[in-house]
Amino acid sequence: MIHYHGIRSLLPVFIGIVLGFTLNVMVSPFLDETCDPSTIGQEQLVKLRETKSLYENEKTSESEKPTVKVKNYEIPQPLKIESNPNKKPVRPRFVATELGIREKLFVAVLTSQDTVNSFALAVNKTTAHYVTKQMYFSTSKSGNVPAGMPLVSFSDKNSKHLPLHVLKYISEHFSHTYDYYMFITDRTYIRAEKIIELVSHISISEDIHMGAVNIHAENNPDMCSLEGGVIISQSVLQKVLAGLDWCLTNSPEANPSKIFGQCLYHSTKLPCSKHGGDKEYRHYKVEDFDYDDDITTLREDGRFNSSFSVYPMPDDLSLFKVHRYFCQLELNLTRQEINKAKESIINLSYYTVDGIDSLSWPIGTPEATRPKKRFDVIRWNYFTESHVFFEDDFTNMSPLNGVDKQDVQEVLQTAFKRANRLYDNKFSKFQLINGYRRFEPSRGMEYQLDLKLREKDTNSDVLKRFHLLRPLNKPELVPMPYVTETSQVFLILPLFEKDVADGLHFLGEFQRNAIQIKDNSVLCLYLIYKKEKFSSDPFVNVKSTVASITSQPNSNNKIMMKSVEMNLSSIKEMEFYDVIVSDFSASTLVSMVTPGMELELDYINRIRMNTIAGVQIYFPISYWQYKPNLAYDQKPYPDMVELTQKYGHFEPLSFFHCSFYVSDFQKARRSLTANEVKHFSLIDMFLKYQKLHIFRAAEPALKNLWQNITCNDEANLQGEHCLERRNQNLATRAQLAKLLFEYNEEDEEVDDEDDDDEAEEANFDKPFMMNALHKG
Ligand SMILES: *[C@@H]1O[C@H](CO)[C@@H](O)[C@H](O)[C@H]1NC(C)=O
Ligand SMILES: *[C@@H]1O[C@H](CO)[C@@H](O)[C@H](O)[C@H]1NC(C)=O
Ligand SMILES: *[C@@H]1O[C@H](CO)[C@@H](O)[C@H](O)[C@H]1NC(C)=O
Ligand SMILES: *[C@@H]1O[C@H](CO)[C@@H](O)[C@H](O)[C@H]1NC(C)=O
Ligand SMILES: *[C@@H]1O[C@H](CO)[C@@H](O)[C@H](O)[C@H]1NC(C)=O
Ligand SMILES: *[C@@H]1O[C@H](CO)[C@@H](O)[C@H](O)[C@H]1NC(C)=O
Repeated sequence: MIHYHGIRSLLPVFIGIVLGFTLNVMVSPFLDETCDPSTIGQEQLVKLRETKSLYENEKTSESEKPTVKVKNYEIPQPLKIESNPNKKPVRPRFVATELGIREKLFVAVLTSQDTVNSFALAVNKTTAHYVTKQMYFSTSKSGNVPAGMPLVSFSDKNSKHLPLHVLKYISEHFSHTYDYYMFITDRTYIRAEKIIELVSHISISEDIHMGAVNIHAENNPDMCSLEGGVIISQSVLQKVLAGLDWCLTNSPEANPSKIFGQCLYHSTKLPCSKHGGDKEYRHYKVEDFDYDDDITTLREDGRFNSSFSVYPMPDDLSLFKVHRYFCQLELNLTRQEINKAKESIINLSYYTVDGIDSLSWPIGTPEATRPKKRFDVIRWNYFTESHVFFEDDFTNMSPLNGVDKQDVQEVLQTAFKRANRLYDNKFSKFQLINGYRRFEPSRGMEYQLDLKLREKDTNSDVLKRFHLLRPLNKPELVPMPYVTETSQVFLILPLFEKDVADGLHFLGEFQRNAIQIKDNSVLCLYLIYKKEKFSSDPFVNVKSTVASITSQPNSNNKIMMKSVEMNLSSIKEMEFYDVIVSDFSASTLVSMVTPGMELELDYINRIRMNTIAGVQIYFPISYWQYKPNLAYDQKPYPDMVELTQKYGHFEPLSFFHCSFYVSDFQKARRSLTANEVKHFSLIDMFLKYQKLHIFRAAEPALKNLWQNITCNDEANLQGEHCLERRNQNLATRAQLAKLLFEYNEEDEEVDDEDDDDEAEEANFDKPFMMNALHKG
């Protein structure tokens, strides 16, 4: 059987290959004829590139026939890629290497055993997050290196030679990886973001040897001090490396800066300069520096304000203080720029159609969207300091807690501080009278607050209204690894005794929507037996249906079935998953499914796209049908689940459908304690694990038939929101209200508590349900 199918399925491939060859032979001569520079095809260009040189192709002998005959193709210049045509070109592993794309800046910090935990640490904290790579070098091994600081130590105890060793180390490990190399000591404070900006604006084709020039000697070239910082370009580094051996043998007895400078000069004949390209390396040398005493005079010095490096630092605390100063300076400059931009927006608004009215508040943020229909109106939610009201369609009031509470408190404080700033600290305390907030996706969270403010002097209250906006920050792109659409998905269907009817429905769905379409998915049925003696097998129908499906062609190995015995009254959710997951290998993509769902190919494909091994797991928000006899006005009820507001709803509280790689499950599972295993659900576990991104989105292709949710059932895998879900999955509020009304009319009983929500929910469980069932 398998053999027969194997040949059958290969046949089209064979025909394809033969046809391909034939067509290729037929078509290629014509292609050659019509080949001219403008119509030269993509494919040919690729072939051209693969030959060593366009020019050489014209000349090669008949034996080495070129791949493509280039006719009428004027080659402007011989592209000499390889000088030796017989040598096979070595292709680098990465495109970036071949194209010579390098990273920007490597910073080598010369440190020592004694200062690596103080000065070098300060340097790391103030600069490392700006530059591409930062490494630390010292002459002797230090016992305790702070985390995240790569330190290289050399056995040569002579600290004067340290710069040369560093050069040698770089030549061995990073000689082609960076555009610029900077050398500093751990006494140097550098404004790393300025340095990055500086090197980003210098052409990489120039030889750069720039830094803090401080040694001018009569017949010596200018040299830079390492303490002030020295930057060299890739091209200069290459030249130095050639002469490195000379430097090691001929280094004068002098300070490290001098040895370094001479070595560079010897190999490159390029003296150190303040300038690189048309940019200047600004540095500031301090003497006897004491931050608190000196800053008042230094801040008036334009040279200090604009310098990129300040040196030497007497201690690490000063380094941090200088860093704080420059951060504040940047912040103040940024604020000024923001103000200028605001002013210019206001100035320009006079020329717009609406004039000054076209401005939105606050200036610069996108204006609120104007609703086109009444359904587009974004609601304001009323809140007090403790509760929020009518947050969604289903809750009247819920206590503020967690981040919501923090948010409200922060906003109140901000408003109060603002009031005091505007009115000369007139107010001693405040009280929230009314609060409204709404989330506008283009702007952020907006608030309106009515505050009662107590005046200090008069002890009287005034009422003020505040309007606040918490704008959205810059959105961030989360890079995601590439996934393929063809991976095999194992759909896991645990089947309880009570689900047999729905299970049979699902088997039909699977046969129609996966097997017949030849989707690469496998159904794994878990028949869950109670730990009791049975007189008859409750799953006998399921078993025979599976047998009949798998006996048909193409469905071999598409359905797997396993019987498990579980004590349903004592099993915990995590143990349940443990049992199931233990059957799969770590690289398997599994997805939990329920018997009452409609299986759509779209959904299976979304599982493949949204589940990424080691990165992301997928918890779709499923759509659930309402109870048909309540939601539909009359029979017959459709067999399909209809996706509309009237006949069903998306259920954010349901977490059963999910897909993950078994390896991710195992990793997260290991992080649980024995106690957590008893109480956690699957989502709790992944939330606690934190190293995986949980992707959750409404999934219209995941539709479920109405489910009779029973919360105090034996195998309760419905999770903690069971009661809430049970109450919401019957019908919409309007439908329920209508039925309740009709029921009361019929019985001629007028219930006083009708409009009370609590009462409604408590009510319909018994008499109302019964009535609805009678009717249905
Ligand atoms: C050093 O800087 C790196 C990069 O910003 C950071 O990851 C690391 O934690 C820092 N180390 C210390 C000890 O601060
Ligand atoms: C340096 O910056 C400080 C703080 O912004 C400022 O007060 C001072 O005027 C600036 N000095 C010069 C010369 O620009
Ligand atoms: C920044 O501005 C604040 C307040 O305007 C001022 O106190 C502070 O000295 C400024 N800092 C610098 C470094 O300019
Ligand atoms: C805005 O207009 C005022 C008055 O016309 C002018 O003084 C100011 O420089 C303008 N500001 C900008 C940023 O254009
Ligand atoms: C199932 O577990 C419950 C609670 O742990 C226990 O009382 C009961 O005896 C168990 N039943 C069987 C058949 O093992
Ligand atoms: C739902 O399940 C409960 C308990 O198993 C049962 O009593 C009830 O009749 C069921 N309701 C429907 C509509 O099937």
